[in-house]
Amino acid sequence: MTMHPTVRVIRDEHSTLSAVLRSIGLLLTESRRHGVEPDFQVLRAMLFYIDEFPERVHHTKETALLFPMLRRRSSELAVVLDRLDRDHAASHRAVLDLQHDVLALEMMSEAPHAKARLADFEAKMHAYIASYLDHIRVEEVDVLPLAESVLTVGDWAQLDEAFMQNRDPLTHRVGDDSFRPLFKRILMTLPAPLGLGSAMEALKASHPRS
Ligand SMILES: [Fe+2]
Ligand SMILES: [Fe+2]
Repeated sequence: MTMHPTVRVIRDEHSTLSAVLRSIGLLLTESRRHGVEPDFQVLRAMLFYIDEFPERVHHTKETALLFPMLRRRSSELAVVLDRLDRDHAASHRAVLDLQHDVLALEMMSEAPHAKARLADFEAKMHAYIASYLDHIRVEEVDVLPLAESVLTVGDWAQLDEAFMQNRDPLTHRVGDDSFRPLFKRILMTLPAPLGLGSAMEALKASHPRS
């Protein structure tokens, strides 16, 4: 069976987002291991990306379209879908708080409590990454298979039309060029051993002239 365009878009966007999340975790772990401050500019660029695309567009399409459609066709995952909706509602706020924390770390790097503040931020960031990766795992393991078994041809046509629009520009060839300077900044400032992996590959594919 061929994969529905909607399922492909969701899975592709999840892999890009996972790559960015894992890169943030790696950046923090490596900086701590070397006893240096993490690169705040890169952190800010990656958090900005998460807020700008996955939070505003990817989550919105799931909560506004996919989940209500699933609820109409099956009651099987009602509790799970409620939890995922709560995650969507909370995580935009969480990423804004994390962006603020990065700013505070930069502005207050000379303050006496700077080291404790950095440790707090790292713990918060690692918790955010772990819960986000778990959220993605639940969608892929539980939600997408249910969608494939209960949604109708008409449902898929409606979803495919919506999901093929506003796709993640870091993932897809047909993207919004306004994101290009942001991705160049992430790529240029990220230390070489901490590459974005699949996200970098995706960028090269979508912007071969960069
Ligand atoms: Fe989600
Ligand atoms: Fe998702």
